[in-house]
Amino acid sequence: MKAMTYRGPYRIRVEDKDIPKIEHPNDAVVQVKRAAICGSDLHLYHGLMPDTRVGHTFGREFIGVVHQVGSSVENLSVGDRVMVPFNIFCGSCYFCARGLYSNCHNVNPNATAVGGIYGYSHTCGGYDGGQAEFVRVPFADVGPVKIPDWLDDDDAVMLTDALPTGYFGAQLGDIVEGDTVVVFGAGPVGLFAAKSAWLMGAGRVIVVDHLDFRLEKAAEFAHAETFNFTHYDDIVVEMKKATGFLGADVVIDAVGAEADGNLLMHVTSAKLKLQGGSPTALNWAIDSVRKGGTVSVVGAYGPMFSAVKFGDAMNKGLTINANQCPVKRQWPRLLSHIQQGYLNPSDIVTHHIPLEHIAEGYHMFSAKLDNCIKPIVVVNPD
Ligand SMILES: NC(=O)c1ccc[n+]([C@@H]2O[C@H](COP(=O)([O-])OP(=O)(O)OC[C@H]3O[C@@H](n4cnc5c(N)ncnc54)[C@H](O)[C@@H]3O)[C@@H](O)[C@H]2O)c1
Ligand SMILES: [Zn+2]
Repeated sequence: MKAMTYRGPYRIRVEDKDIPKIEHPNDAVVQVKRAAICGSDLHLYHGLMPDTRVGHTFGREFIGVVHQVGSSVENLSVGDRVMVPFNIFCGSCYFCARGLYSNCHNVNPNATAVGGIYGYSHTCGGYDGGQAEFVRVPFADVGPVKIPDWLDDDDAVMLTDALPTGYFGAQLGDIVEGDTVVVFGAGPVGLFAAKSAWLMGAGRVIVVDHLDFRLEKAAEFAHAETFNFTHYDDIVVEMKKATGFLGADVVIDAVGAEADGNLLMHVTSAKLKLQGGSPTALNWAIDSVRKGGTVSVVGAYGPMFSAVKFGDAMNKGLTINANQCPVKRQWPRLLSHIQQGYLNPSDIVTHHIPLEHIAEGYHMFSAKLDNCIKPIVVVNPD
């Protein structure tokens, strides 16, 4: 089969690999129809994720058709059209029983924090991902679900990460009716977080980025007020001015470890590897939220130390909520919102790229070329 493979930082290509086999009775093998490239894949592509091995296939977002099932699989049959959450999880450990699917204890012996994630390095379990013609899906009775007939492929693939993660970002903000919510980052996750904030009762939504084409999308798609942080000396001061000098009730970090806006943070993280990522957006979030407010962190950070302004967070009495999204927990609510017309996930999709051209797709998405917001990888066209 054809599969995207990692060759080293900024170098990927499509190679022939063996079609994955059933390795456990509760595995399925899924023939991929659509995958997507996520901002998280960029951390791997840029060589920032520890233990990303040459030959690894990325792809945490994918949907497809069940090709083969193991002997104990009861909920899926060959031919079912399924969406697969990016988390691999057992469904029965201490953490899964509490809905913490992204922190499953049984799927990633390499780490104590994070569970298993498709296509996300050996730090996250070493499972090959869905930017390939076929993918092995462990715990097939637990993670995947059949895609409702009314949901098309592009909308369904957005449900495997970007949309639930944005929605989760808003949920972690514990938004109360009328709250002012600031979202740092106007990528797919930030756009969905901004849109979701309204669904949770926000009275005002502000989105900050430095890419005007994404801010325009935030205004149009998420009806947000927008700020380009490069237009101001200090974006935190602007956020204070915009909120009567109190600060926002809720701030969502939808940027993560590769934040721009502070050269020292960039050099000490991406270049010198002295910290697990640049916490610029997180520090702006801590500074922009009001005392007693909530900071939600869905932007991803590496396992090492980061220079986060924790003293300020402590002294302001902040609540900080963070995690990888437990995707499946969000699906019932999101499917209902989509069916009722409150959300149209594929509205943010800007590009369709055939698997053969995925290297160009990574380059475009990474360099933010051609007004790219969300690229879908077409693996098996109908
Ligand atoms: N928690 C989870 O489960 C989960 C799931 C998916 C993605 N993520 C993470 O969410 C983050 C966003 O993902 P995405 O797909 O939207 O990525 P993306 O790269 O498309 O978007 C990030 C955006 O942040 C902007 N940005 C950079 N520095 C900024 C700053 N200082 N302030 C404001 N904006 C800034 C960029 O211009 C870009 O538009 C990534 O870190 C990704 O790894 C987390
Ligand atoms: Zn578990």
